[in-house]
Amino acid sequence: MSTLSDNALPADTDAPSSPVHLNAVAGPGQPDPSPALEELYRGFERELLVPLWTEIGDLMPGHPRSAATPHLWRWNRLLALADRAGDLVPVGRGGERRAIALANPTLGGRPFATPTLWAAIQYLLPGEDAPEHRHTQHAFRFVVEGEGVWTVVGGDPVPMNRGDFLPQSGWNWHAHHNAANRPMAWIDGLDIPFQYYTEQQFFEFGREAISDAERITPDRSRSQQLWGHPGVRPVAFTEPTSATPLLNYRWVHTDAALRDQLDLAAAGYPGVVEPGHAAVRYINPTTGGDVLPTIRTQAHRITTGTTTAPRREVGSSVYQVFDGSGVVTVGEHRWSVTRGDLFVVPSWAELSVTGEASASDSDSGALDLFQFGDAPIFAALHGHREQITTTGGQQ
Ligand SMILES: [Fe+2]
Repeated sequence: MSTLSDNALPADTDAPSSPVHLNAVAGPGQPDPSPALEELYRGFERELLVPLWTEIGDLMPGHPRSAATPHLWRWNRLLALADRAGDLVPVGRGGERRAIALANPTLGGRPFATPTLWAAIQYLLPGEDAPEHRHTQHAFRFVVEGEGVWTVVGGDPVPMNRGDFLPQSGWNWHAHHNAANRPMAWIDGLDIPFQYYTEQQFFEFGREAISDAERITPDRSRSQQLWGHPGVRPVAFTEPTSATPLLNYRWVHTDAALRDQLDLAAAGYPGVVEPGHAAVRYINPTTGGDVLPTIRTQAHRITTGTTTAPRREVGSSVYQVFDGSGVVTVGEHRWSVTRGDLFVVPSWAELSVTGEASASDSDSGALDLFQFGDAPIFAALHGHREQITTTGGQQ
């Protein structure tokens, strides 16, 4: 009778040590440990093979189990360190940006907030320029405080003010210049980890300096003049585009939309996500879909005393507190949060938020949150799921 040892391949003594390590352990669904099984596993290791039966629980879990961890970063600590970086770190060709990324504690120290998303604080001193470049990564800026920086996207100077959301799809030239007499900080969100893991990145340096014609400081970008009017679009441009042509979404519009939802709810009309929780999604005006192919962005307003229904979804998100205060629960983690704080919600982690804002810490009198997540990736692949726990059960 043939046995494994009769047919065993000789060990390749010149081969580097294998990264595959297998242990024969007793357990449900596992073969009984034996010297012959151990020998089989050594053969797998030599030939760089891994059997499904030792991996299935990790590779094919019953539901998403994220490598990322819920985590909170305090804005005041980020800002202090970014300010110090302003003293020590120049902005110029090569480093490109004074951007400092959130590193999720369980993603190996990489600058990844989640397995798909980059989130960073960027800091620009008075008079400074961040040089022009372009990359395939889709990006946006969101401004929690300050003003005086213009981002120049495709030659269009775009003002950045508190509450503004500025998307910029991949492969567009962009630079920044600070025309104010104060430093300015904002957050950048990109799909850098997603493009890194899926190996699709391209990058090019642009001009060393923007032109004088681009160094102007208009109140409105040309893109806003063309696309920033509710409910209408230019007839000269009727083709859908894969990303939004509107380069800045002004806070005045977002604020009014959230306020109107709550006013309608108070009058007995539908519109809010749930009682006390208004939300809007930033959309591409040519399609009605998400602003960027890989990133969904939304703004939430949660009234004082409201606790949102626990909710989880496939894919990860990063939130920033735009205004107000409250308590956030993500899985087993629970934090009190205030203006500027950032937190991560990994895939399938349950999120619930309680509004605790007052007139003294919030212009709207409510807790306002900015959210960005990777849902469009999963929606495109028909892999998006969400689960909301209501008092009557799950829906
Ligand atoms: Fe960039």
